[in-house]
Amino acid sequence: MGWRGILGFEYGIVQAPLGPDISGPELVAAVANAGAIGILRAPDWECPDYLRELIRKTRSLTDKPFGVGIVLAFPHKENLKIILEEKVAILQLYWGEVTQDIVLEAHEAGVKVVPQIGSFEEAKRAADVGVDAIIVQGHEAGGHVIGHEAIIALVPRVVDLVASRGIPVIAAGGIVDERGYVAALALGAQGVCLGTRFLATEESFAHPIYKRKLVEMNETEYTDVFGRARWPGAPQRVLKTPFFMEWRNLPSHENEANQPVIGHTTIHGMEKEIRQFAGTVPNKTARGDIESMVMYAGEGVGLIHEILPAAQVVNRLVEGAQILIQQNFTS
Ligand SMILES: Cc1cc2nc3c(=O)[nH]c(=O)nc-3n(C[C@H](O)[C@H](O)[C@H](O)COP(=O)(O)O)c2cc1C
Repeated sequence: MGWRGILGFEYGIVQAPLGPDISGPELVAAVANAGAIGILRAPDWECPDYLRELIRKTRSLTDKPFGVGIVLAFPHKENLKIILEEKVAILQLYWGEVTQDIVLEAHEAGVKVVPQIGSFEEAKRAADVGVDAIIVQGHEAGGHVIGHEAIIALVPRVVDLVASRGIPVIAAGGIVDERGYVAALALGAQGVCLGTRFLATEESFAHPIYKRKLVEMNETEYTDVFGRARWPGAPQRVLKTPFFMEWRNLPSHENEANQPVIGHTTIHGMEKEIRQFAGTVPNKTARGDIESMVMYAGEGVGLIHEILPAAQVVNRLVEGAQILIQQNFTS
């Protein structure tokens, strides 16, 4: 039964790592305590001592297992060492080559490797180096989007590719409630990975104005307007805020590097300026013109009507899926 657990967890529900620091210890621990898979987000720069503290802080809030996500496009070798030394349950990887060395090292430390991919080819390469599960990200997803396909076609293709090898597939993109969960199970996924829904929880480290927009707004767009200088070639799905709608046709030679500073924030203990068109979503510490900062969200945002405790998100998914299957899909 699909709503049963994967990777040794009670449930097949994954809380996506939410950069830069939105899935912090409080959110991850709340998700872990509810029996699902919570994933911290490692900083995009080497800071092993800080990361060890982050993992330990999370452990002080839960005795359940959880994971840490790394974006491979940024410096990560020292951070990776700490993740393996601390033996968290899951190493989540995104946006870069998943090498056999990483997988072997992680397995030696007893850590499972779960990359997020956006194409059939990327899934094939990941399966070939022996990963433990694969998150298939569809074009519906909030935040950075690595592929171009929707999950309805991509998930079953990846399932057909890896099912015989016993690698569970986890669908990501636009899933918010039990209907999306059951749909993903019907596609052959064994789990679901939700970003936007967990962003809109009490425990997420997002700024209150950002959370409010997730409840109020219904539409998103796939764009590359934000963060062009810092992370080129990395498109995103964002809320259609008034600021975004004004600038959605930003000429391609423009980027955040020469723009005015619109705010400040502290990210993983580092004080940072936020320039106009930066790819930094406002966290709880952000100050300044919050409404003009990027707000990532997936296509399912129109189904989010309230900020919930993270445990309730998990419980509603599990119970809702069971009821939905019993009422609609069993004779
Ligand atoms: C605010 C935000 C930050 C994200 N940061 C990351 C990240 O650091 N690493 C990653 O692998 N995915 C990240 N994602 C993408 C998620 O892993 C996932 O693919 C996506 O949230 C799924 O779509 P959904 O938002 O519609 O649920 C982020 C998504 C959002 C909304």
